[in-house]
Amino acid sequence: MSELFDRPISRRDALRVGLGVGAGLALGRLPLGASPSDALRLADGLYTKPIPSTGEEIPIIGIGTARRYDVGSDESDRAPLREVLRALPELGGTLVDTAPSYGNAETVIGDLMAELGNRDQIFLATKVRQEDPADALAEIEGSFERLRTDRFDLLMVHNLVGIEHKLPVLREMKREGRIRYLGMSTSFEGQYDDFVSVMETEDMDFIQVDYAIDNRGAEERILPLAANRGMAVLTNLPFGRGRVFEALGDQEIPVWAGEFGIESWAQFALMFAASHPAVTCAIPGTATLEYLEDNLGTARTSRLPDQETRRRMAALVDSA
Ligand SMILES: NC(=O)c1ccc[n+]([C@@H]2O[C@H](COP(=O)([O-])OP(=O)(O)OC[C@H]3O[C@@H](n4cnc5c(N)ncnc54)[C@H](OP(=O)(O)O)[C@@H]3O)[C@@H](O)[C@H]2O)c1
Repeated sequence: MSELFDRPISRRDALRVGLGVGAGLALGRLPLGASPSDALRLADGLYTKPIPSTGEEIPIIGIGTARRYDVGSDESDRAPLREVLRALPELGGTLVDTAPSYGNAETVIGDLMAELGNRDQIFLATKVRQEDPADALAEIEGSFERLRTDRFDLLMVHNLVGIEHKLPVLREMKREGRIRYLGMSTSFEGQYDDFVSVMETEDMDFIQVDYAIDNRGAEERILPLAANRGMAVLTNLPFGRGRVFEALGDQEIPVWAGEFGIESWAQFALMFAASHPAVTCAIPGTATLEYLEDNLGTARTSRLPDQETRRRMAALVDSA
């Protein structure tokens, strides 16, 4: 898999050597395919990777919203979530992953983005899970309403449910401009065979899969296939819902990890997930400002660990 580590020069690399968006702005133009929001993001210093199907760059860390965003209208519950959604674009981040099956999460995110007026600064990803085609369409329309938007940046088929009839619907929505990218998600090893079959035969912009420093099964087939097929990868459960911290928690962070700006075990785990060459963006569940600053801090690095360093990182967890 070593060829995966020779990644092409991205606009971020170009920026580092002074030829990128900054130079483009100085000349009153942007590099091909870049938008003004790219310029802000790159200038903010977050490490980004390109979405293969378009070349659009996104920061290597986003946020997940399962469980913790399933709250009601109590201000005490919503205030910390509002702070996260306010700070995310201010800190240079963009991607928010949600789903209609995360209880009230879509409604909460829709309400808060409307209050903050920052929908346009967020790369909004949601999913569709209903099995029956009519129910699935109703679920998608419900997501547009709950999220108070007329366009999703990414819509994924959740856990492969009804994939064969949903992909044509998603393609039609993409043609109509209601979604920018389409994909599918899983977080179960038991679905990997089916997931791989669909990846082999269907064109998609994104896949989402569970991948963490102590859960590396996706490395065997899914991540190399995504690279070969030109699919962007979001990695869910990058902390294994806290399992990773239990494995690593009591040790000191090794000095060599500091070379990559790693200052916490959360950053160590996220750096591992996001530095796989096929991975575009890791989406840790993030429901407090403190976690957001820590997690996004992973992307404030000038370089990612190479293959040898990644092996060393994994070995640390394997021996814990
Ligand atoms: N099949 C699918 O499509 C699928 C499946 C699963 C997940 N997902 C997506 O992936 C996202 C991530 O998964 P997840 O949220 O279930 O699990 P996770 O990201 O592995 O773990 C999230 C938990 O880690 C803790 N945490 C977050 N940042 C931290 C930090 N900086 N330091 C210490 N602890 C920190 C928080 O726990 P506490 O809140 O307890 O402190 C948080 O709830 C989901 O939110 C969802 O968007 C998709």
